This record gives sequence, structure tokens and C-alpha cells, in this order.
Amino acid sequence: MTPSTDPNRVLIFDTTLRDGEQSPGCSMNLNEKLEIAHALKDLGVDVIEAGFPIASPGDFESVQEIARQVHGPVICGLARCNPADIDRAAEAVKESSRPRVHVFLATSAIHREFKLRMTPEEVVRRAVEGVKRAKGYVDDVEFSPEDAARTELNFLSEVVEKAIEAGATTLNIPDTVGYAVPTHYANVIRHLKKTVRGIDDVVLSVHCHNDLGLAVANTLAALHEGARQVECTINGIGERAGNTALEEVVMALRTRQDFYGLTTGINTRFLFSTSRKLSHVTGMQVQRNKAIVGQNAFAHEAGIHQDGMLKERSTYEIMRPEDLGIPKTELVLGKHSGRHALRQRIVDLGYHLTDDQLNKVFDAFKALADRKKEVYDADIEALAENQLHNS
Ligand code: KIV
Ligand code: ZN
Repeated sequence: MTPSTDPNRVLIFDTTLRDGEQSPGCSMNLNEKLEIAHALKDLGVDVIEAGFPIASPGDFESVQEIARQVHGPVICGLARCNPADIDRAAEAVKESSRPRVHVFLATSAIHREFKLRMTPEEVVRRAVEGVKRAKGYVDDVEFSPEDAARTELNFLSEVVEKAIEAGATTLNIPDTVGYAVPTHYANVIRHLKKTVRGIDDVVLSVHCHNDLGLAVANTLAALHEGARQVECTINGIGERAGNTALEEVVMALRTRQDFYGLTTGINTRFLFSTSRKLSHVTGMQVQRNKAIVGQNAFAHEAGIHQDGMLKERSTYEIMRPEDLGIPKTELVLGKHSGRHALRQRIVDLGYHLTDDQLNKVFDAFKALADRKKEVYDADIEALAENQLHNS
């Protein structure tokens, strides 16, 4: 992928199915991955990193099936910088109409010395060989100097420049261990923009981890300096404290368009249902007070706030829940509600039920509505969960 003709367009690279799936408790089977990949496509992400094909036969198969079945976004497979990994990743994505191979190699002194046992010269040579090998298979090659945020700046510039010369079209700058803080990470991006030949002809990408709770802040700082691809996951799932949360960075850019002047291709009305779908599939709950998609994100408890909201919503609300696809709470379902309203609410809550499953949930809903005056979202979720797990 080359930089967009619109200099203010930010590409959303979703790695829920790769970096996200690596987090404990988040592994998914093939059908679950396909369901999430289709939801990501509907959401409007630009790139789906579908997995790490060399990691296991199951990972290879899911990347291959997503490449075959999900059309629209670029489909990407991850590879370390060695021939076996790169060949396997290229094989897995080859049936996509928009395949990408993403190669990575650590560059920080600490990784060179203790993990790779390589000199800086060997690291540069291996990075160049890896990019060239991937380029033999696909035009769209991404290179990541792993642990970039802890890499000496001049060495980082050298590796990035050599990777561009070798043919990489996206250069990703990972903060692998979540060590960066916003001003520091912004300096790294500014340094690369200033010193690397060819940097404006490729997409400059950022990939942040949340160990200090700064992944979104670091990402925004980098975008402000000219990065134009964000690597992120739904609900911020990922290794340790997670990755940059897609919904948070997208809504920050949208809500503060006045400040950043940047846009994405995300259909924000699918943010809530995609978040819910992922937590149903993985069983990983979203914390109640999580920004954007948490249960409390739009709940106003204090009397003063409720009073302000009733007079004018914007007194205490900076985003409209309907822009995220959050079902209108005024629309409580009851015994007079029809099948159509129930189906819509189930879809809004992120469930995908067959007609037969929906009919059974509808019968259970009517029985419940006879006993309870009002049926809330939590009741509908319980009915849908029960149906999914018992059918
Ligand atoms: O965090 C990281 O460095 C990664 C790379 C593989 C991009 O996930
Ligand atoms: Zn990562």
C-alpha cells in the first residue's frame, strides 16, 4: 500500500486476530476468527492482520481462509525475518486480492544482545534479506523493527532506510513493551521523518502496547507528527496490558477533528456491536468503565449531570451513543414488542443468530416479558447466550 492521495486519511490496521489473539484467554477457533474478520470488514478497517501463519497449522489455515473469504481489506500475515516464516506467510495470504506480508526483526540493543545475539550490521543485513524475500511474493510488504521505541535513534533510521530501499511499502514503528511516553514517541516519529530518505513515499505506521496505559496517547502523538497507519485491536486486547484500542483512537480522531484534522474509513456505527461480538466470542469481558464501549461510558448518575443532559445533551456528552451504534436505552422491549424489534436489538448487541435460533429466543423472550414488565439488554444477552451455547 502506498500513502493515500488524501494526506489526512489514517489507515486502520486491525491486529485483533494476531496480536490480540496472543493475549491469554483470547484464543479463537477458525469459525470465530472468520466471524470477527467479517465484522472487521463491515466496520471498514483497511488492513486485517489475520495471524502468524508459521505459528501453527491452525493459524495458517485461518489466515488462508480469511484471505479466501474476506474481500475488501488488505489481508496480512506476520513473519519473522527468516525464509521459512516468510514463505509460509506468503503462501497463507496468496489467495487474497490484496495480500500483505509483514516481516519483523528486533533492533534495540537489548534484543540484539540477549535475544538475537546479532551485531547491528547483521540486523541490517537480515532485515534487507527478509524484505527482499517477501517482495518476491507480494508488492505490499510491511517491515517492523521490533522494540523500535527502545532502539538508538540513528540505528533505527538506518534500518528503516535500508528496509525502504529493499522494497518495504509500510514502515511500522512498534513500542513493543509499552515503554514510550507521548512526547518521546512523537520525537521518534519526528526524527524518522527528518532523517530517513524515502520516508514520505511509504506509509509510516505505529504500533503501541499499553503497559503504562499510554497506547492510545502515544498513537495520537505519533499521528500528530505524520504517521498515517495505526495498528490496533478491538477492545484493546493484546499481549499483557493490551494494544491500542481501535474504538478509542477512532473516536478520539473523530471527536477532536478540530484538533487533528484527520479521518479514517471506519463506520463508527458498528463499533459497539463489533466490541460486543468480540467479547462474546472470546469470553473476555469489557470493563464497565472502559472508554467508548464500556457499559458505563454513557451512563450519567449524578443529579447535576442528569439535569444538564435533560436540558442539552452536549453539556455532559462529547459523543452521541447512536454514532457508536449503542442501542437507544429508551427503547425498552416488552411483551408487545415484535420479532423484528427483537432481531434488531440482538444484532445491535453483536449477536449473529440463525432464523431457528432467533425463533427460540423470541419464544423465551415472550415468556420472560409475561413475567417481567420490561426486558433489558442484559436479559436479551442472557437469552441469546443461552441459545448459542445450548444449540
Ligand atoms: O509489538 C510488536 O513489536 C509486534 C510486532 C510483531 C509488530 O507485535
Ligand atoms: Zn505488538
